[in-house]
Amino acid sequence: MSNLKLAVILGSTRPGRNGEAVAQWVLARAKERANADYELIDLLDHPLPHLDEAVPASRGLYAGEHTKAWAARIKEFDGYIFVTPEYNHSTSGVLKNAIDYLYAEWNNKAAAFVSYGSLGGTRAIEHLRAISSELQLAHVRQQLSFSLLTDFENYSVFKPSATHDSAASVLFDQLESWAGALTAVRS
Ligand SMILES: Cc1cc2nc3c(=O)[nH]c(=O)nc-3n(C[C@H](O)[C@H](O)[C@H](O)COP(=O)(O)O)c2cc1C
Repeated sequence: MSNLKLAVILGSTRPGRNGEAVAQWVLARAKERANADYELIDLLDHPLPHLDEAVPASRGLYAGEHTKAWAARIKEFDGYIFVTPEYNHSTSGVLKNAIDYLYAEWNNKAAAFVSYGSLGGTRAIEHLRAISSELQLAHVRQQLSFSLLTDFENYSVFKPSATHDSAASVLFDQLESWAGALTAVRS
């Protein structure tokens, strides 16, 4: 059986973003996994306007070339790790917008979440869990949450505590298990 294909989606595009270091940390560990191939999707590389599709994504009638390109990119994967900042007790607008563009491409796949923020960003993950449920995107229990106070120096240099390593292994195990199982549902 071929390896699962999983994406680490970097959900922050702010100049000077902390998200890039967090996503690269996740990707480096993901690359050590034997049964899945992980790639980074940086939303900076997929500049999408505020949702400009006339028809709801659930109908699958995409009009814009940017939507079709985004859909083709997301469709490639069996599952996703969303790396999200916490902005005003939620996820970022840019990530929510990118998610809203699509529907079928997310369905019956697996998702895991990594957050960061002053208090770890867990409120962003809670919102993403509700969004994922609506998209039939199966979200695993294990999550990673990095605090600006204890996992960063000066709120900007990423120095994660070693305790996150074992949680990351569990997250990958759970994500790959569900991503593999859901391939049968999609076929
Ligand atoms: C608009 C904005 C809102 C924020 N709101 C929160 C918040 O509600 N809770 C929190 O813990 N941190 C909050 N923060 C801190 C961010 O989580 C932190 O700056 C993080 O590094 C942002 O991700 P980024 O650097 O990748 O953009 C906020 C930051 C910004 C820019």
